[in-house]
Amino acid sequence: MAKKDRIVLAYSGGLDTSVAIGWIGEQTGAEVIAVAVDVGQGGEDLEVIRQRALDCGAVEAYVADARDEFANEYCVPALKANGLYQNAYPLVSALSRPLIAKHLVRAARQFGATTMAHGCTGKGNDQVRFEVSFTSMAPDLTCIAPVRDLALTRDVAIDYANKHKLPIETTKNNPFSIDQNVWGRAIETGFLEDLWNAPTKDVYSYTDDPTYPPLPDEVTITFDQGVPVAVDGRKLSVLEIIQELNQRAGAQGIGRIDMVEDRLVGIKSREIYEAPGAMTLIAAHKELENVTLEREQARFKHRVDTRWAELVYDAQWFSPLKNSLDAFIEDTQRYVSGDIRMTLHGGRATVTGRKSDTSLYDFNLATYETGDTFDQSHSRGFIEIYGLTAKLAAARDVRFGNGVDFGVGDL
Ligand code: ARG
Repeated sequence: MAKKDRIVLAYSGGLDTSVAIGWIGEQTGAEVIAVAVDVGQGGEDLEVIRQRALDCGAVEAYVADARDEFANEYCVPALKANGLYQNAYPLVSALSRPLIAKHLVRAARQFGATTMAHGCTGKGNDQVRFEVSFTSMAPDLTCIAPVRDLALTRDVAIDYANKHKLPIETTKNNPFSIDQNVWGRAIETGFLEDLWNAPTKDVYSYTDDPTYPPLPDEVTITFDQGVPVAVDGRKLSVLEIIQELNQRAGAQGIGRIDMVEDRLVGIKSREIYEAPGAMTLIAAHKELENVTLEREQARFKHRVDTRWAELVYDAQWFSPLKNSLDAFIEDTQRYVSGDIRMTLHGGRATVTGRKSDTSLYDFNLATYETGDTFDQSHSRGFIEIYGLTAKLAAARDVRFGNGVDFGVGDL
């Protein structure tokens, strides 16, 4: 008998991907290798998920604890870039897909698979992120999406699971589509599709209601070259720092986001996010950059940051341009070291103090006390030359009767 083709499936342990194992087998005749990656989404034990994949008919099941890798190699670059898509969304799902894709490609090489599979629909960004990531790492591999390409709808999945007695819950009816990891949580669909409907309490799980917060919580975050290294003076791994801030900022209801977002596939969609740790860290990191980046570098970096977030959102994690921007961003972080103190309270992370040995803030220049070192007499000549082009243009306007109209008629 000829050797069967092998397909690597991005496996979550949930209904759709559990059914997909058998479904792909039936539809394509290939063997399925299930790969589950822990990016800090919580929930079931990886070993339980691995066993379920095997019970559902996978020939191999591979699970990876990628939480530190995700924190260090995906969340940290996002933090250095202050990564917010549309100035609001901290790229939660967009960051995890390239990492999951990497583990899938590794498994494909290890187990001799030629095709990749994922459980995404044909309407979202995640299908694009998976597939562009696969091609960017392994241009020889092909890809199928059972939900999109093999008509594996929800009803079909429930029937299939019941008929084959798969060890998976088919009755739980979650109205939302949820994706979560240590950087945050995304909630969409259901009644949220009506833009006028406010999110209800059950939408949230990483954050408590900010309307009734506990007492204010003061936290100091220490950065070393853009990387968070300690909380309140305790040295921790990046993963531990994100986890601790998820708890503490989450308890204060920080990092809830309700937005209408422009998807890569052209749809505008309503999204709710909660990212307490990420939003707190980004606020702290931005403030430390305000203190340590030279003005022109800071201004330019804002544009690079915006573009970086768009590229990552748009499935370009492994792209040449994103790599080049990473090099620029990395270079800017050389002096982004020091402490940021914040008060976490009632939905807000407010900076109350900054301390840095690599600061560009010069007290003696900035102070309004006597004895400052800023020579104000130089400002006069500076403004004369700085304002010269404005002066020339205004004089011309006056000559041609186009001067500013002060509404007092001809005097
Ligand atoms: N809209 C967000 C993004 O594109 C979140 C996607 C969440 N994924 C999901 N399968 N629910 O990054």
